[in-house]
Amino acid sequence: MSKINLNQEIKTIEKRLQQLIKSEDATLEAASHHLLKSGGKRVRPLFVILSSYIGPNQANEAAYRVATALELIHMATLVHDDVIDYSDKRRGKLTIEKKWDKPTAILTGNFLLARALEYLSYIKNPEVHATLSHAITEVCRGELFQFQDQFRADQSMTNYLRRINRKTALLIQLSTEVGAMTSGADAQTVRTMRQIGHYIGMSFQIIDDILDFTSTPEKLGKPVGSDLRNGHLTLPVLLEMRQDPNFKAKIASLHPGASDALFTECIEQVRQSDVIAQSKEISTRYLNKALQELDQLPNDALKPLFKKLIDKLQHRMR
Ligand code: IPE
Ligand code: IPE
Ligand code: MG
Ligand code: MG
Repeated sequence: MSKINLNQEIKTIEKRLQQLIKSEDATLEAASHHLLKSGGKRVRPLFVILSSYIGPNQANEAAYRVATALELIHMATLVHDDVIDYSDKRRGKLTIEKKWDKPTAILTGNFLLARALEYLSYIKNPEVHATLSHAITEVCRGELFQFQDQFRADQSMTNYLRRINRKTALLIQLSTEVGAMTSGADAQTVRTMRQIGHYIGMSFQIIDDILDFTSTPEKLGKPVGSDLRNGHLTLPVLLEMRQDPNFKAKIASLHPGASDALFTECIEQVRQSDVIAQSKEISTRYLNKALQELDQLPNDALKPLFKKLIDKLQHRMR
């Protein structure tokens, strides 16, 4: 256990990813390679590998397959998300749609997903496949709900939380849950690991939503301020609407063709508001819940590694 080295694990996953995106089709391979070599933190595979040390059959082939497949599934969702969000940049580089075109982006997303499923077929445990398929469906629903909720000023906080649970927390929850499953952990431990992933994922997306207001494109490698421009009302906006009826009226008046000045004004108000601090506080609350659950686990040697990985995610805030 003391031998787990996160950098080494990333290298192992990286090699497998490079093998997997090879294709007879030069365009699919080039587009996948473009996204792969642009970077990415690889947090999902790392959560799978760490979680696969929780049970008796530690870090076996199934764990590495799930880890690699989850990064491919994540990449597929990013490629499709960038089409939905009209994004120009991902991981600091042009998105596939911008470098190639929309059909190439959609098909590359499908290709990455199919490659992931093919790679997972090695695993004979039907529970793993059922859990994964269910989660992918839910991610689609999360993205769809977000699309349907665009520019809806009357949406509730629950609405937002459900949406981020589906579109983001689920894949991280899946990493810790299925990672634990591959190790043959008992049902209670798998449940705890699932909860840990859920809380980390919720905290992670809230941070992402804050950074869309507070960060710079250079730091993030993707556009900022684009959530509101796309009509995605995230936690800071929902909180600001609650405390300022004038702001709520302004948000209600937004539509895709609204003036750039109006969008900028709303974004500026959020940036200057204490709702940024309030949102950070809510994100921290989720993270603390994850840490509390982590303390329940029997495996003490794993805890500092999980904390290290969680820290890595938190560092995005600085
Ligand atoms: C980006 O995820 C999409 C969200 C769920 C916010 P990451 O921040 O993990 O993206 P990469 O893989 O490091 O680029
Ligand atoms: C992230 O959605 C979730 C998925 C990709 C499914 P976002 O639209 O919030 O993520 P970024 O900001 O583009 O990374
Ligand atoms: Mg996006
Ligand atoms: Mg999106």
